[in-house]
Amino acid sequence: MQHALQVELTKKTFAHIDADTTDMGAEVLRHPVSEYTCPDWFSREKATLFRDYPLFMGLSGLIPEAGDYLAEDHGEIPTLLIRGDDGIARAFVNMCRHRGTPLAKGCGRSASFTCPYHAWNYNKQGELVGLPDKRSFPDVDPAQEGLIPLPTLEKHGMLWVIPNPKADNDQDLEQCIDAHLAGLGGELASYGFGTYHADETRTIERRANWKQPIETFLEAYHFNTLHKNTVAPLFFHNMCLFEPFGLNHREAVIRKSIESQRDKPESEWDFVKHTGLAYQLFPNTIFVIQADHVETWRVFPSKDRVDECVIRFDCYVPEPVTEPKARKHWDANIDLAFRTVDEEDYRISEDIQRAYLSNALEEVIVGRNEPSLGHYKKSIQQAVVKDQ
Ligand code: FES
Ligand SMILES: [Fe+2]
Repeated sequence: MQHALQVELTKKTFAHIDADTTDMGAEVLRHPVSEYTCPDWFSREKATLFRDYPLFMGLSGLIPEAGDYLAEDHGEIPTLLIRGDDGIARAFVNMCRHRGTPLAKGCGRSASFTCPYHAWNYNKQGELVGLPDKRSFPDVDPAQEGLIPLPTLEKHGMLWVIPNPKADNDQDLEQCIDAHLAGLGGELASYGFGTYHADETRTIERRANWKQPIETFLEAYHFNTLHKNTVAPLFFHNMCLFEPFGLNHREAVIRKSIESQRDKPESEWDFVKHTGLAYQLFPNTIFVIQADHVETWRVFPSKDRVDECVIRFDCYVPEPVTEPKARKHWDANIDLAFRTVDEEDYRISEDIQRAYLSNALEEVIVGRNEPSLGHYKKSIQQAVVKDQ
């Protein structure tokens, strides 16, 4: 984060600490529970948010070399992201043009992609380069049967895909993503994500609507109760800084250690180190900046159930972890972060979901002290309603 912004936000934080205040939303929000239980609303979300919006896929370090790939079928469209021989990252529909078989699963590095069914072969640029028994397909021109491309952009060390095979591949994606980020791009660029290494990933399924595991990151009002035995002592309770960027936003919760900055000159202030800093990248990513690494939580709706989701957690580090001592340090750190979120926050998400399914409550109430949460709920609602 740019230093001038760190100073500005640190000053704002000190003002909140001194006055015992927090950033506030404009008003109390009442939000319909049906958006977490109604199959019709769920279908509308999937048809818009997971088809027409650029989805953050990961940092560049997820596929650093030519032939590195990531195959995912959590979203609406099975996606295969590959780095080509020319260094360009491209995403495709992960389906063979012969009979539709997915070409790859998980992640790895491959010189080319051979279909496991009848061995049609595609290169790293998605072109069909091998068609066994070509004489039986006389009218099939391999040049026309490459993998179906999905609009893909790599910028600021971040990978984005619009998972819609019908999307216009000639559109100016850079402009589209700049517009989507609504001014946040420069701030993201300042972190230098392009040099980060993918260190660990975990994927879990939970019995909660996909928005719930995101929302649990969006307020500090729950710290002293839900996290009283874990992270609460490290943070100011019920205090946050919030700033919207279109449908996305930045939220910072404040570590008590920020008090140490008061005695230092502004030129040395480190806002990032003394906060829990998260960006909500609309619609489905929580992007957490830690002092020495980055964690991303990407959440996808289940294929057919409004009350289930898939959560993919990735951890990125500035330097590859090679020494056993460093490995141990990172393993312990990642494990603690993951377990706190999963065992405390996501457990509540599942409890809430079970209760929501009773249909006994029509609305939930979002306080003015939960501005990020209110902004997220309104952004989802706005995008789904606007697009249909
Ligand atoms: S389905 Fe891929 S080669 Fe037949
Ligand atoms: Fe939490």
